[in-house]
Amino acid sequence: MKQSRILITGAGGQIGTVLTDALRQAFGADNVLATDLRDLGPQAGPTAILDALNPEALAELVNKWEITQIYHLAAILSATGEKNPLWAWDINMRSLFNVLETARATGVQKVYYPSSIAVFGREAAKFDTPQFEVLIPETVYGISKVAGENWANYYFRRYGLDVRSLRYPGIIGYQSLPGGGTTDYAVDIYHYAVRGETFTCFLSADTALPMLYMPDAIRATLELMEAPAENIRVRSSYNLAGMSFTPAEIAASIQKQVPDFRIQYAPDFRQAIADSWPASIDDSAARQDWGWKPMYDLDAMTTDMLTHLR
Ligand code: NAD
Ligand code: SER
Repeated sequence: MKQSRILITGAGGQIGTVLTDALRQAFGADNVLATDLRDLGPQAGPTAILDALNPEALAELVNKWEITQIYHLAAILSATGEKNPLWAWDINMRSLFNVLETARATGVQKVYYPSSIAVFGREAAKFDTPQFEVLIPETVYGISKVAGENWANYYFRRYGLDVRSLRYPGIIGYQSLPGGGTTDYAVDIYHYAVRGETFTCFLSADTALPMLYMPDAIRATLELMEAPAENIRVRSSYNLAGMSFTPAEIAASIQKQVPDFRIQYAPDFRQAIADSWPASIDDSAARQDWGWKPMYDLDAMTTDMLTHLR
């Protein structure tokens, strides 16, 4: 079988930073090309500056590096997207089409495309939101992810391109900072806790959202991409869950280990986004099809986050 050679877009972001390292461990540092809009600096493997909106530059890198898989992470997330909806739509959709068309034209074998819980809106079931649910998102980010999931499915059915996708919940990790989402508070809160500062949360105390610890998110991604193609029955995007909690609950989890930690609440425009999203997710299709199982709950994540950030 041909050696896997991987190109990652948006590799300098919250997830890309960690996923790049994991892919280099799995496939060899020289076989993973990390790209982003900005210079990624010295790394264990090759890097390149790439605007994912530039089809010629993408095709040139794919050909030069004989890429067999693309992980397309570059995107504008929910909160940033609401500040400039048409700009966010343009980046999220045009970059995806570039990746899908380049993959088709060059013979790339597999594409990974992350979707999000943002595909759901108020009409969807709030708790244990099912895999196949009505999708009427209220953010431009969510609209772009619904469209992206459908195009992933289309390229698989029409062209046989092996596109795979996960609907990530909010991802929490210590290695990198988040880039403009509605779930970012759940990363920031740990940084405030280790600095001994009071945290002001932009969501209300009782806003429950689905979340996932970074090691689980990375493992899910690798497991999905390595699963036999015949097991991947959902070709739009798989629901994925780890835990669900409110700001008050994560604060209480931190206070078990940092008793002096304090939180206060000042909800802003992100409250309406969070209110339109599920509180918890049914990921039974992922569990059945390719054996998904999360390892971290809230307290285990808190222990690991605080240990590393200290
Ligand atoms: P991020 O905002 O931290 O990183 C995105 C990266 O994309 C940045 O490094 C940015 O420089 C880069 N980028 C932006 N425009 C670009 C362009 N035109 N060309 C090349 N690079 C460009 O995002 P993230 O949190 O790492 O998310 C990665 C993917 O996972 C996104 O598709 C996002 O929608 C999805 N996702 C993330 C979460 C989460 O909680 N982090 C949840 C659900 C889905
Ligand atoms: N964490 C992401 C966001 O809040 C969910 O896709 O935008």
